[in-house]
Amino acid sequence: MPPANRQGKKEYLLGVNQTELERLRFQHGVWKENTDSFLDRLKIRKGWKCLDVGAGPGFVSMDLRQRVGPTGEVTALEPSALYLEWLARESRRRGWKNINTVNGTAETAILPKNRYNLVFVRWVIAFVPDPAKFLRPLIVSLKKGGILAIMDYWYEGLSLYPQGGAFDGAAQVVRKYYRSGNGDPYVTGKIPEILRSFNLRVIDFTPTQIAGGPDSAIIEWAHRFFIPHLPLMAEQGNCSREEAEAMAQDWLAHRKNEKTIFFSPIVVHIAGRKQR
Ligand SMILES: C[S@@+](CC[C@H](N)C(=O)[O-])C[C@H]1O[C@@H](n2cnc3c(N)ncnc32)[C@H](O)[C@@H]1O
Repeated sequence: MPPANRQGKKEYLLGVNQTELERLRFQHGVWKENTDSFLDRLKIRKGWKCLDVGAGPGFVSMDLRQRVGPTGEVTALEPSALYLEWLARESRRRGWKNINTVNGTAETAILPKNRYNLVFVRWVIAFVPDPAKFLRPLIVSLKKGGILAIMDYWYEGLSLYPQGGAFDGAAQVVRKYYRSGNGDPYVTGKIPEILRSFNLRVIDFTPTQIAGGPDSAIIEWAHRFFIPHLPLMAEQGNCSREEAEAMAQDWLAHRKNEKTIFFSPIVVHIAGRKQR
């Protein structure tokens, strides 16, 4: 069964805790060049007001703060108080006074209207049950001419060379895992249509992928997801225990093979501009 809270609502699939915070920090480092290339294309200016949605501990919020400088403003919107407290401490440590935090979800938080030059959403929208409901209030909070930028999966491409082992079935199991948490591993395909329905012009749609050998940062990034999550995928009925164990063994064998190449899933950069 997917995790559920006391009201019977499904909880955020990956959970919130210190280990996950450290995984997010490592993930941020591994995907920083990729994310920066997207942020560069958005041509963010000093003084911009930005909203980082599902900010986690705010690693992107801090990068946005670097770009907008002391005259800009960054607001991190996030349902986890643990992550927001971490970000507030980190901002104080850096002497930054223009990172705000809002504790809530995109669907329910009270946000200002027509305020932000940029709303940024990385690795959140694939977890939500209704992407249009999630995006509507964010678009209301964007200024006319402002940009909504999304980074998330088109969950294809995940694979290992040499092929032929149990891990060949992993992408399918992860897709089931996302769906069991009410998410959509192919959400990025739907986003351009949703943006157009809200009168945004799609200005960027760029699929990206990272690959690396058995000692690369990208394979270590995947390792920190698969090793703890494969047993959970089995527990939640997305595969059998034996299949999860066989995928883990195949994975560990590939990490010892110098010929191994790991291919990440496809991550799509999508940007839409709110029409004037
Ligand atoms: C995989 S983490 C990504 C964190 C951050 N965006 C990053 O790229 O490092 C997903 C985050 O989205 C948050 N989240 C989940 N559902 C949300 C929702 N409906 N509205 C806002 N944030 C949400 C979770 O609490 C979690 O911190």
